[in-house]
Amino acid sequence: MRSSILNVLRKNQGEYISGEEISRQLMVSRTAIWKHIRALKQDGYLIEAHPRRGYCLSELPDLLLPDEIKNDLSTQVLGKEIYWFDSIDSTSNEAKKLAAAGCPEGTLVLAEAQCTGRGRLARGWFSPRGKGIWLSVVLRPPFQPYDAPKCTLMTAVALTRAIRRATGVPCGIKWPNDILYNGKKVVGILTEMSAEMDAINYVVLGMGTNVNIAADEFPDELAGIATSLAEAAGRPFCRKTLLKEILAELETVYLEVSRSGFDSILKEWRRLSVTLGQTVQVVGPDKQFSGLAVDIDASGALLVQTDGSLETVIAGDVSI
Ligand code: BTN
Repeated sequence: MRSSILNVLRKNQGEYISGEEISRQLMVSRTAIWKHIRALKQDGYLIEAHPRRGYCLSELPDLLLPDEIKNDLSTQVLGKEIYWFDSIDSTSNEAKKLAAAGCPEGTLVLAEAQCTGRGRLARGWFSPRGKGIWLSVVLRPPFQPYDAPKCTLMTAVALTRAIRRATGVPCGIKWPNDILYNGKKVVGILTEMSAEMDAINYVVLGMGTNVNIAADEFPDELAGIATSLAEAAGRPFCRKTLLKEILAELETVYLEVSRSGFDSILKEWRRLSVTLGQTVQVVGPDKQFSGLAVDIDASGALLVQTDGSLETVIAGDVSI
C-alpha cells in the first residue's frame, strides 16, 4: 500500500491530491493513508499536508530507498528484494547473513553509510554518508566454484559500461577488480563466496562506487589513490539513476554468462582494461616481481611477461 500511495503522489508531484481521491483510487481508508504518509515523511519524502487540499509530494529524498530504486527498475532478477540501511557495518556482512538464511537470488543490500566497510586483502573501505553507492548483491550462480573469480571480472565489465553510459566518465578496469579514472580508484569490487566442492551456495558481490565525494573529503591516505565520478566530471551525479544503470548492466552480463559462458565477457574485459600493455608490479602471496601485463587467460588470471618467464597471477596486488 505504501508504494501505491507513493506512486499516486509521484504521478501528481508538485500538485495537491486530496485524501479522499487517494482513498477512492486505492480503496483504502483515509486513516491508513495518513499513517503511510507519516512514515514516508519520516523516511525523508517532503510531503506537504493541507486540511482542504490534501497531500503534495514536493521533493523526493536523495536516498537509495527501496521505493525509489524499485520505481522504473528494468531488471527481472536483481532487486526483487531490497534492504536499505541508513548506516551499517558492511552491506556485504548483511548480504552474507541474508544469503545464508536463504534469501532469493538478486537480493540487494544498500546503505547510505558503512562504519566498517571492507575491501580486499583485509583493507577498509571509505564509505561516507550519501556520497557513494555502497551495495552488495546476492547471486546463486549455476556455474562451478572454480568459475567464481570470473564474477569479479563480469562485475567490473558491468560497472564500467554503466558508469561510462550514465556519466560519460571514461574509466577503465585494473586487474582484477578496480575501476580507475586517470590512475585513481573510483570503484572497488569485493567478491565473496560460500560453496561446496562442486556447487556454489551463494556469491556476494560487494561494490563501492565513489560518486559525489569531494577531493578534500578523502582521508589523507587515500588522497593520491582514490577519486570520485563527480571529481572526474566536475559535476555531481544522481546516485539513483546511476544505480539503476548498474543493476540493469549487471543483470545483462550475468544472464549472458549464465547462458553462454564467460568468453564474450572476457573479450569485453580486455577491451575495457587499463592493465594490459602496461608494466606492472605484482605482490603475490609468495613472491614479488614486475613485468609486462600481456593478457588474461580463460580463467581470468593475469599473464605477466617477465625477463625470464610468463607468470600467471591468480591473486595478489597489482600496481601499474
Ligand atoms: C576493494 O577495492 O578492495 C573492494 C572494495 C569493496 C567495497 C564494497 S562497498 C559495499 C560492500 N560492502 C563492503 O563492506 N565492501 C563492499
